[in-house]
Amino acid sequence: MKVISVLSRKGGVGKTLVSVGVAQVLGAAGHRVALLDRDPEGSAMGWQHGAQKGEVPLPYQVIGPIEATSMVGLDFLVVDTPPNDIRILQDTARQSHVLLVPLLPGAGEMDRLQETVQALSEVELQQGVQLGFVLNRMEHDNVSAAMGPTLEQLGYPVVAQIRKAVDYQRAFGNMIPAHLTPPFKEALTNLGVHL
Ligand SMILES: Nc1ncnc2c1ncn2[C@@H]1O[C@H](COP(=O)(O)OP(=O)(O)OP(=O)(O)O)[C@@H](O)[C@H]1O
Ligand SMILES: [Mg+2]
Repeated sequence: MKVISVLSRKGGVGKTLVSVGVAQVLGAAGHRVALLDRDPEGSAMGWQHGAQKGEVPLPYQVIGPIEATSMVGLDFLVVDTPPNDIRILQDTARQSHVLLVPLLPGAGEMDRLQETVQALSEVELQQGVQLGFVLNRMEHDNVSAAMGPTLEQLGYPVVAQIRKAVDYQRAFGNMIPAHLTPPFKEALTNLGVHL
């Protein structure tokens, strides 16, 4: 089982969106996938709750840590994490094979990113772990355009860019529309995960 976790010390950057998107594209490709919600506020759980009311069944389950221990035969476990709990962040990172760090465009966002990088640097990560940064809520402006080069200069690999689109918000608790899933596939492909 490959563990893919989505982490950031900052709130509201798109951890839950990226977790759900990655789980969806893996599940839709036929892999056995679970999405583990390590957020005590349960944002990924809320997604599942919404889905039960929707028409299209999700190609993955959302589970809590307890169910997780009893799950066997998974190909992928995608882990959504809370922003303000360094213990959960580091514990999750330690057990992960792929780490995805979403961030938003903006100068101040870089400082917050360092907190996440610092937290990860304190952990003994799995051998061969893959780390990728996902730029989220990208717009057609100079601030967004500057983000990619800035990250690359720091040696932080950008594996996908997600544009700002109200359709992501509207998808809450349901399938993300197909035309909005390419960034999740791209992130996985860039990190060597085959769909
Ligand atoms: N690319 C996007 N375009 C438009 N809205 C977005 C986008 N990404 C995220 N959002 C919206 O921004 C909000 C925060 O996203 P999300 O819940 O995924 O972040 P998070 O990092 O999981 O937050 P938290 O730290 O609170 O768990 C949500 O309302 C979500 O719908
Ligand atoms: Mg969340």
